[in-house]
Amino acid sequence: MNHLRIASVASEFEDHPTFSDDEYQQQLRVLLNVTREIYKVLHLDQLLTTIMDEVRKALNADRCTVFLIDEEKNELWSKTAHGEKEIRFPKNLGVAGYVAMTGEILNIRDAYADPHFNPEIDRKTGYRTRNLLTFPMKNIMGKTIGVFQVLNKLNGYFREIDEEILATISSIAATQIENAQLYEQQRRLNDELRGMYEQQQKALYSFVQTLASTIDARDPLTAGHSQRIACYCDEVAKILNMDENRREVLHYAALLHDFGKISLRDVILKNHKRFNESQYNEMRKHPAITKKILEKIFLPEKLKDLPQIAGAHHEKMDGSGYPDHLKGDQIPLEARILTVVDAFDAMTSNRRYSNRIIDFEKVVHTLENDSGTHFDGYFVTAFKQIPLNRLVEILEDESTDLLETKDLNFLANFTIQDLLNEIAQKSDGESKLIQIFNKYYHRDHLEKKGKDEKNNFNS
Ligand SMILES: [Fe+2]
Ligand SMILES: [Fe+2]
Repeated sequence: MNHLRIASVASEFEDHPTFSDDEYQQQLRVLLNVTREIYKVLHLDQLLTTIMDEVRKALNADRCTVFLIDEEKNELWSKTAHGEKEIRFPKNLGVAGYVAMTGEILNIRDAYADPHFNPEIDRKTGYRTRNLLTFPMKNIMGKTIGVFQVLNKLNGYFREIDEEILATISSIAATQIENAQLYEQQRRLNDELRGMYEQQQKALYSFVQTLASTIDARDPLTAGHSQRIACYCDEVAKILNMDENRREVLHYAALLHDFGKISLRDVILKNHKRFNESQYNEMRKHPAITKKILEKIFLPEKLKDLPQIAGAHHEKMDGSGYPDHLKGDQIPLEARILTVVDAFDAMTSNRRYSNRIIDFEKVVHTLENDSGTHFDGYFVTAFKQIPLNRLVEILEDESTDLLETKDLNFLANFTIQDLLNEIAQKSDGESKLIQIFNKYYHRDHLEKKGKDEKNNFNS
């Protein structure tokens, strides 16, 4: 389309008696160059600057400004007018206003002698306009969308060939400006939609956090369980390099997996001793209730598997779990991860503010020994790749301010598996790694804090 337009201008030049062949050749080169430069840019501000620069060069002029028509405000505006700030004025004012209203071309050889020219702007800016070519910019439908104003031809005044060149540039520029405006509108719309989506995500996340904390809050002995499970799951997801969507659904499932416990009576929920048979049967209902409740929540498409995953966190690999006695691969992958970290947290967190009962290696050996029957061994292996600094931060999530940075930096060099290897080879007294880990696992740092507080009180 534009090639045709350039060709037609070239043929107009050929038929014109005033211009030499050299001039046609040169102007054609200028047009091709301008076209190429304009088509490189789609961002409106940058496009306007490019157009103004290219037109100024092509017409051998001192200045060029492109004014666009703002239909809503009935104004002409220019965003970047060679060093000046955004200019806005009524659509019918001055030479540019006249051209915008009439669609006529004004080629003024002596600005101060022309009645359309408003010398007020020169007085304000200190610029001296000698001559000017003001040209309507029309879109493909023939509608004027803006005005070119080219000031002070460097050699003489603007001639007909300048008008011809500007006519061609004008139609190319109008098309590209409208494209840029559409692109900008689309980008703004996308930004708005993204903003709305992010707001919804935040609202959903805080809703889920609130649900998770309501169940954690009912039993002080397991407080923070859902939050810790979510943190362990994040670590395992990182180790397995899971994609973003699966990480998210796993995180949500971790936060909500025990939500069905909301229906349990306190006498069951807070019973941490042995259940009788009817209590045990009641407790076993909670994953199915979690699933039922989550199925009633309107969830985004990417979280559609959430009820099924959260509801399967007590299934076992050999089919002896509940509620549906699923086996192996029948259990959703994310639920198999949940099962591992849920058991780990149950064994390591049920004695808050006192030493943990079960030695760490025994806890991990339980996960290993029950791999294939209760747990998926693949995820037990992945779990053992968690760095020890993260493990300690999650284990001690209620007192992270008491963790020493130098210890965390040291622990960051080792994984759970490294610690198990060290335990198998050395005794506590010989290993810095075991000593530092045990300080936090057995909560010696809390005892130290208690002593410090007592000393401060006595002194
Ligand atoms: Fe559970
Ligand atoms: Fe749980």
